[in-house]
Amino acid sequence: MELEEPRDTVRTSERELSRFADSRDEARALRVAAMADEQFSRRFALGPLLGRGGMSVVFSATRRGPGQEVAVKLLRAAHDPVMVRLFEREAELLMGIVAARVIRAFEYDLLECGTPYLVLELVRGENLQALVRRVGPQPPEVVRTIGVALCRVLQEVHALGIVHRDVKPANVMMDWSADGASGVTLVDFGVALARSRRVEARIEPAMLVGSPAFSAPEQLEDARHVDERTDIWSLGATLHYLMTAKYPHESSSVATMIAARLDGSADRTALDEASVPAPLTAAIMRCLARAPADRPSDVRSLRALLEARLPEPADAAATEIARGR
Ligand SMILES: Nc1ncnc2c1ncn2[C@@H]1O[C@H](COP(=O)(O)OP(=O)(O)O)[C@@H](O)[C@H]1O
Ligand SMILES: [Mg+2]
Repeated sequence: MELEEPRDTVRTSERELSRFADSRDEARALRVAAMADEQFSRRFALGPLLGRGGMSVVFSATRRGPGQEVAVKLLRAAHDPVMVRLFEREAELLMGIVAARVIRAFEYDLLECGTPYLVLELVRGENLQALVRRVGPQPPEVVRTIGVALCRVLQEVHALGIVHRDVKPANVMMDWSADGASGVTLVDFGVALARSRRVEARIEPAMLVGSPAFSAPEQLEDARHVDERTDIWSLGATLHYLMTAKYPHESSSVATMIAARLDGSADRTALDEASVPAPLTAAIMRCLARAPADRPSDVRSLRALLEARLPEPADAAATEIARGR
């Protein structure tokens, strides 16, 4: 008898876990929670699921009355105080910024069940990871346009004293109906580090911040001490992925990928195999330098490098190929 009970308990919790590991169920559960919340549902009508990340699920929504279309980002792990704190910080940060190229946040609140949510400007389009998975690597002209657009966004973000720390394809949205660079938006300030918090952050316990496949070596070593050049590395890794559908240190395990990253500079094999134009390869490889001092010193100089040395922005034909139409 005594042996039976614990085994049953374990089986039950495994079943529970596997149910929650299925993120479609999780998104559905969060949708139900939001709709069941009287205050929330009086103000917003939820639309389709737009995306999900490590921390959250994002739905489109319409604000009742004015009919404003927004995005609602709901925290997945509302029981985890560390996640709640990061989510609050994202809200604080975004709600404190008014900048032309930074996504706007309108409000932050809790559902009755305790799940925090953030109401954001709705960004149209598809994230770049989904795009590459759907149609594969992108033509150099498109990658250049995206690179230049991201430099412009990061120039504003860095000027505000913020390091994003999670620049990667899944956090960049592309709206093909907009004009070139204006269709590129950086989202997800969930682990962004503001200058005002840098001293405080240095005494916090070390934790892995961001996404290993797109994180600079020094960020993997200690995410608390990074500066703007860590975003430049991640931007280079993002462009590398757009050109090749591969990470700069492609590997069979996260551990060997991290070891290779810490060991030395990225290798250019994937870029060469994809016949990436030499100037673009050179720009990407400079971003991926092991030592921050060997990278372009800021996004403005990276932008100049991309603008000066690469072909003209995407023409209509290249854009048609890129979007998979
Ligand atoms: N404001 C938005 N408008 C439209 N889609 C969004 C918006 N914010 C995020 N998304 C989509 O939802 C996904 C998850 O959002 P993100 O902010 O990256 O959450 P996480 O912090 O969990 O990674 C993104 O990859 C993107 O596709
Ligand atoms: Mg994300």
